[in-house]
Amino acid sequence: MKEESVDFLVIGSGVAGLRAAIELAHHGTVLIATKDVPTESSTEYAQGGIAVAMSDEDEVGIHLEDTLRAGDGLCRESAVKVLVEEGPWRISELISWGAEFDREGTKLAFTREAAHSKNRILHAHGDSTGKELERVLIAKVRTYQSVKKYPFAFTVDLMVNEGECFGASMVKDGEVIHLSAKATILATGGAGQIYERTTNPAVATGDGMAIAFRAGAVLEDMEFVQFHPTSLYMPGAPHFLLSEAMRGEGALLKNIHGEPFMKNYHPSAELAPRDVVSRAIISEMVRTKSAHVYLDLTHLDKEFVKRRFPRINLTCRMYNIDITENLIPVSPAAHYIMGGIRTDLNGATNIKGLYAAGEVACTGVHGANRLASNSLLEGLVFGARAGIAASQHGSEGRMHGTPKAQGLHHAPSTLSRFSSSYLDGMRTSLRRLMWERVGIIRCAESLSIAEDSLSQWEPEVNEISVTREEQELRNMLMVSRLITEAALERKGSVGAHFRSDFPLRGDDGNRHILWEKGRMLKE
Ligand code: SIN
Repeated sequence: MKEESVDFLVIGSGVAGLRAAIELAHHGTVLIATKDVPTESSTEYAQGGIAVAMSDEDEVGIHLEDTLRAGDGLCRESAVKVLVEEGPWRISELISWGAEFDREGTKLAFTREAAHSKNRILHAHGDSTGKELERVLIAKVRTYQSVKKYPFAFTVDLMVNEGECFGASMVKDGEVIHLSAKATILATGGAGQIYERTTNPAVATGDGMAIAFRAGAVLEDMEFVQFHPTSLYMPGAPHFLLSEAMRGEGALLKNIHGEPFMKNYHPSAELAPRDVVSRAIISEMVRTKSAHVYLDLTHLDKEFVKRRFPRINLTCRMYNIDITENLIPVSPAAHYIMGGIRTDLNGATNIKGLYAAGEVACTGVHGANRLASNSLLEGLVFGARAGIAASQHGSEGRMHGTPKAQGLHHAPSTLSRFSSSYLDGMRTSLRRLMWERVGIIRCAESLSIAEDSLSQWEPEVNEISVTREEQELRNMLMVSRLITEAALERKGSVGAHFRSDFPLRGDDGNRHILWEKGRMLKE
């Protein structure tokens, strides 16, 4: 085992982690640890864009209202205010660092997505907005000699002693490293991989949420999972995202008989909130006994479609779909977890020295349902805030403590106790269970079945080992349990959480469900 020390540890290299590291770079040595290559994050794959009230017709107050409405009464208004007010400033800063957003003439081009009352979505290279953010932030990080990257370093647990975090234990190149830091920022992203169908990359296994929970962090709003209505449905193909911006530009949803149906479900039709569209698609699939519906862009100008969605066009072509000529088979997929590690407006958690930003965190910005394209903005705004707060925490004169690693008190082994095929089988069963029982439409019966299976599986992999496969599965099981139990507890339908046995909001609709010291609480 190796001991290393750094001033600030950032775990995760998406928009939130990189933006935090840029702030920290002025205050000491920074290590960005990632379990894969640094560009492998949800940010890299984000298509549609980044919502910001910067167009001539928009106002931050309207962005605030739209976000609160989407969050269905459970947003923390102070956090939303920070998001919409600081957003334009952070975008201007990003442009000054070289970000190239698409323009109409010299003016920034803004598009519309569901539940936005104005055109406010910036995009880059058509549908590669996240990639552009990642490019600019990585280039900026490279200008600081104080920042080092640690690729392929899997964080196993946080090192916490008496409610204070002193870094993390990780495995890199088969070696266990105790990495001590004055302050640690978790920016590990989401957990879409717990679902059989997800738009998320393979790295999104809920690691940050699980390790924070094991260390005693408070988690909140875990039952709120957003399902994106349109992912590619092709047997054998990944559930590739077909950006909401396509519907924003006029694409229609049609059932397998070629009939548009969204007007039958919501006055905003294709631009209704995501949970409404996802449930409408499921209803149409059931009604027409089909495994998918279609997204239709064939009535739009072909050159415009190719120019506006080059990445989607290229990907669909790999599956012999010409998006200007053919209907695209689509169905919903898990996309974003609104809940996560509870933080204040500066990313601070209940554990001293531990901060969280981005999808892993629950700042309260999204409430029960995230407004489309608010997440990249959240990563920028709250990543920067977490970086600033962590740098100040580091300068309070805290000593690098004698850390105690949670869960690594034994002689660690980097050999798996289980065969790869066993772990693969378990992962597949878990993902199917979550999709079928804890998916878009839930009820007490389905959730109880999931709860029973999860409680049988968990002890099997909770034994300590430090291979990435086992640790990911351990984390996925833990996050699945937190989501399932919170979903069982919320006996009402709010935002993205829909219970067929409790279709109304219910008396507890305005309360949050929290996980604290391993126990569930309501607030
Ligand atoms: C999309 O492009 O549809 C995804 C944007 C988002 O989830 O915010």
